[in-house]
Amino acid sequence: MSIFTDIQIKLCSEDKKKKKPPDEELVFGKTFTDHMFFMEYKDEKWSDPKIIPYQSFEMDPATAVFHYGQEIFEGMKAFRHPDDTIHLFRPYENAERFNLSADRMSMVKINKDLFVTAIKELIRVDNEWAPRAPGTTLYIRPTMIASEVALGVHPSLEYYFYIILAPVGPYFKEGFKPTKAYVANANVRAAPGGTGEAKTGGNYAATLHEARIAQSKGYPQVIWLDAVEKKYVEEASAMNIMFVINNEIYTPPLDGTILRGITRKSVLELATNLGYKIHEEQLDINKVVNEIETGECSEAFFVGTAASITPVSEILYKEKEYKINDGQIGKITQHLYDELTGIQFGKKHDRFNWMIKIK
Ligand code: COI
Repeated sequence: MSIFTDIQIKLCSEDKKKKKPPDEELVFGKTFTDHMFFMEYKDEKWSDPKIIPYQSFEMDPATAVFHYGQEIFEGMKAFRHPDDTIHLFRPYENAERFNLSADRMSMVKINKDLFVTAIKELIRVDNEWAPRAPGTTLYIRPTMIASEVALGVHPSLEYYFYIILAPVGPYFKEGFKPTKAYVANANVRAAPGGTGEAKTGGNYAATLHEARIAQSKGYPQVIWLDAVEKKYVEEASAMNIMFVINNEIYTPPLDGTILRGITRKSVLELATNLGYKIHEEQLDINKVVNEIETGECSEAFFVGTAASITPVSEILYKEKEYKINDGQIGKITQHLYDELTGIQFGKKHDRFNWMIKIK
């Protein structure tokens, strides 16, 4: 039993423990720790919360999630600080967003304190898995899936809620290096009134077709436009986006079709605190590329939990290449990156009280 809650803990036996790869060899999302958190919703109530050895699920082929995609998740990170303690970044924001996603997908909600406590407890159990090499983190993936066995289209009556942990290196193997992005023109990601704002698997599946087109042209990332006028910038497939125009920061507004990024929110708060002017407004891609050409738009960067802050060096729009800041990392991008990661990794004072220490 945990001392903080009544989360039951069943430890993995010594001989079943996995071999940890060296921190320096970690990539994103390939290695998982020895334990997971698990809870099941059935007969209108949650089962007792528990931490168990990391394991597979045996599921009936008719399980609802496989057919109608009732699935939501979160992406979070824990950071090892120089004094070897481990800290979460704004976990209540994720708990809140998880419940917004649950609501949109007609799924059940999770008590926010339990959500955060479960993560803390799991990390306490697997704390040795939190890596120490520069730039590495412990990625956290809370997930809920519809587990009822039934083919009729209706909100599932049963759910699994689980949390897994993955020690990770940078999301982009190059690390904090500029990347190139292709502006989608064949598909849209999300339409007004759709599920774009929910963190649900289908939104990510919807990006894959265009991502293939982009990759075939040498562009690792896709920038999505709005579904109605096909001209307003929305976000990238797994990250929000920001531009620096005339030394001020611009990002699309939260209008229901893009993810309510927690890194997005934090970067806007941080930028304001650092004295930058921020704008959350619709950004016409035609205007943006024009401003790249004139040099008024001097920087662009992605923001996300997995991706942190990633500079964008070039945009391909309607077969024309627009190079930003000569392909170099911009000053404001670098400033925000240094400040954000400084706070996250415990190298700079956390003046916002964003970090929560796992005791
Ligand atoms: C994250 O940034 O953590 C996300 O959830 C995006 C993911 C698809 C890598």
